Parts: sequence; C-alpha cells; structure tokens
Amino acid sequence: MAVERTLSIIKPDATRRNLTGQIIAKFETAGLRVVAQKRMQLSQAQAEAFYSVHKARPFFGSLVSFMVSGPVVVQVLEGENAIAKNREVMGATDPSKAAPGTVRKDFAESIEANSVHGSDAPETAANEIHFFFSDLEIVG
Ligand code: CMP
Repeated sequence: MAVERTLSIIKPDATRRNLTGQIIAKFETAGLRVVAQKRMQLSQAQAEAFYSVHKARPFFGSLVSFMVSGPVVVQVLEGENAIAKNREVMGATDPSKAAPGTVRKDFAESIEANSVHGSDAPETAANEIHFFFSDLEIVG
C-alpha cells in the first residue's frame, strides 16, 4: 500500500460543539497523521468554489450557507491508503447509514451537517489539498 495524502475538513457543526480534538483522535487512532492544519472562516466564494462539483444539486445553496456558518478546520492527513482509510473513519455521508464508531455515526447532526469532509480519490485529493495549502505548509 502506498502512503497517500488526503484533504479533510472538520465542518462548522463540529467546531461549534468543540469536537475538533475528538475527531482528530479518531483519525490518529486509525493511523492517519495530521501533516498540515488550519482553522479558518470560509468565505461564500471559497465555499462555492470548493463545492463547485455539486453546483447543480438541489442542496448546493444550503450546503454553502452551512459551510460558511462558522469556522472549519482544514487538514492534510497522511498515511497508508489515507484516502480510503479516512473515508472509512468518517463513515457514510448520511449519518443514519454510518457504521458504529465512525465520526459521522458518533457526531454528525444530519446528512448536510455531517461533521467532516474527506477527498474521494487521488486526483480530487491533490486538487483539494492545493485549494487550501501550499507545499511549504505541509510537513510530513
Ligand atoms: P461532503 O462529503 O462534504 O460532500 C458534499 C456535501 O454535501 C456532503 O458532505 C454533505 O455535507 C452535503 N450533502 C450531500 N448530500 C446531501 C443531501 N442529500 N442533502 C443535503 N446535503 C447533502
């Protein structure tokens, strides 16, 4: 298995409830390392650009409003098979379908306010990482 990097976002519903540390602990327990991290307030334009792949979806406007409703913590996670591993730790998008022990099962409020985002494939991971971080900010 190759060492990969993936982009993770701890979303406003989770920062609001002070769950950042508990979520990071799940990543670290699974063998993922935080190699870059910052807390930020997304602008409307940033949220629209980050989720532009979903712009035709009925939930796009609401998703963007949610993502700018409070601070997020953006991270680069590194580890063996990090993209799939992170998706396993996050659980299904819809928390009612997420497996026990996953971030979304334990913490998500709804299919929209689902506590975390993670890249879904190597190409998206590379694009999403560079959306938020320069190479100098990533220290493995
Ligand atoms: P994420 O993994 O960040 O990717 C797109 C986001 O859109 C998703 O998590 C949810 O926050 C949101 N989302 C996906 N499907 C729906 C839906 N059916 N209704 C509302 N929000 C959704």
